[in-house]
Amino acid sequence: TMGNPRNVFWHECAVGKAERQKLIDQQGCVVWITGLSGSGKSTLACSLNRELHSRGKLSYVLDGDNVRHGLNKNLGFSPEDRTENIRRVGEVAKLFADAGFICIASLISPYRKDRDACRAMLSDRNFIEAMLLSVFMNMPLEVCEGRDSKGLYKLARAGKIKGFTGIDDPYEPPMNCEIKIEQKNGVCPTPYDMALQVVAYLDQTNSKI
Ligand code: PPS
Repeated sequence: TMGNPRNVFWHECAVGKAERQKLIDQQGCVVWITGLSGSGKSTLACSLNRELHSRGKLSYVLDGDNVRHGLNKNLGFSPEDRTENIRRVGEVAKLFADAGFICIASLISPYRKDRDACRAMLSDRNFIEAMLLSVFMNMPLEVCEGRDSKGLYKLARAGKIKGFTGIDDPYEPPMNCEIKIEQKNGVCPTPYDMALQVVAYLDQTNSKI
């Protein structure tokens, strides 16, 4: 058991990915949305979910805040816990993509190495067709902090939350994202326009969508 120290094996199931995709006439993939708190990740996730649905495409949102109520409720915001948070959501997203869904994951995912690990994981040999599309919410900290819809930036500035992303914990912008969502002339795109930007990319790259 040298090559398999834990004695766990991969088991092939009867119905394969290609057959499932044919049945629902779409190709599974992962849209990974990264950015600061308040940058509009969840807004884009919801709007994209709605837009894909209206086009008859199955999609499912894995939102950091929501997943932390269940699957990841034992995790906090230390670097190790964030890494585990991203890893688990990446693995779940991979299962959704394998099931044929367009899985929309929206998490701050502040560390480059964690996002890179997800990208690598999503292209391993068992999921060769799965793809990851990375969307970077490139919003200035001032804009995110100005919104402060949950009042967390205020608490972080007051030192009442330690290790808050963008304040006293780093956000490492992606260097290999497929899509950037940005302001134009100081104006943020609408939720609908953000969703269309992603849909246009999916249309282009994924013939089944
Ligand atoms: S991470 O870094 O990817 O694991 O974070 P994520 O799972 O996306 O959760 C982010 C939301 O948690 C709230 N929150 C914090 N964010 C950043 N840093 C600290 N210390 C923190 N504590 C709580 C915050 O509401 C984030 O919500 P979003 O939706 O990003 O605004």
